[in-house]
Amino acid sequence: MEWYETGDGVETWQEVLLVYNAALRQIETKMEILNEEFQHVHQYNPIEHIKSRIKTPESIVKKLRRNNLDSTIENMVNHVNDIAGIRIICSFTSDIYRIADMIEKQRDIKVMTVKDYIMFPKASGYKSYHMIVTVPVYLSDKTVDAKVEIQIRTVAMDFWASLEHKIHYKFEGDAPEHIKQELVDCAHMVSDLDDKMLQLNEEILELSHMQEVEREEREKERRRQQELENQIHQS
Ligand code: GTP
Ligand code: MG
Repeated sequence: MEWYETGDGVETWQEVLLVYNAALRQIETKMEILNEEFQHVHQYNPIEHIKSRIKTPESIVKKLRRNNLDSTIENMVNHVNDIAGIRIICSFTSDIYRIADMIEKQRDIKVMTVKDYIMFPKASGYKSYHMIVTVPVYLSDKTVDAKVEIQIRTVAMDFWASLEHKIHYKFEGDAPEHIKQELVDCAHMVSDLDDKMLQLNEEILELSHMQEVEREEREKERRRQQELENQIHQS
């Protein structure tokens, strides 16, 4: 997969950083716009918050070394898909697919790969929806497609992932078996919690919709009465 479309490629690490930062800003702005539009149409925000980061040069080099690749800028750009990363945190599992769908429909975003760890959780218990996308960044003399890793997950999945990540680090990937098992158990609790919250939210929406319908009915009835009274008065 060629990363640069035109021109003679990316020259310096400074330029790489500039491009990835621009790509992150573009996706963040797109997400903010979609969230605002969604608020306008459906009266609620699917996105709780957004976090983004650029991978440190140290972990980029580490990743290349793991894959037996030399630390050249070309290798970084071509083989490390998560130099620019954005995490979209939402309330409900259903929001995840809604957001993914909205991203896919953006005309200038190209979806390269999708990994649905919600449908197919990792052995660790990890759940999230991952997309590698490219977004065009328009520089003064060329346009480059920058790769961005998008992770979409609920608040509860995010809570689990950050704790699991900390433990993973602490034990350098080799946590005691009972702790790993407890984490898998917690992941199941997180799933149950997400399911319950979604169900509860749907019930609440249903109820408030019914209340709205009843309120409108009462208002119609009140107007009918008023009309009738007016007619009686006039005659
Ligand atoms: P990396 O080389 O780690 O980037 O993984 P990958 O290229 O196989 O991609 P994958 O989609 O599996 O994972 C990408 C990212 O998802 C990781 O860098 C983490 O941020 C997150 N992730 C994946 N698995 C786990 C997990 O078991 N626990 C936690 N906490 N995060 C995970
Ligand atoms: Mg990664």
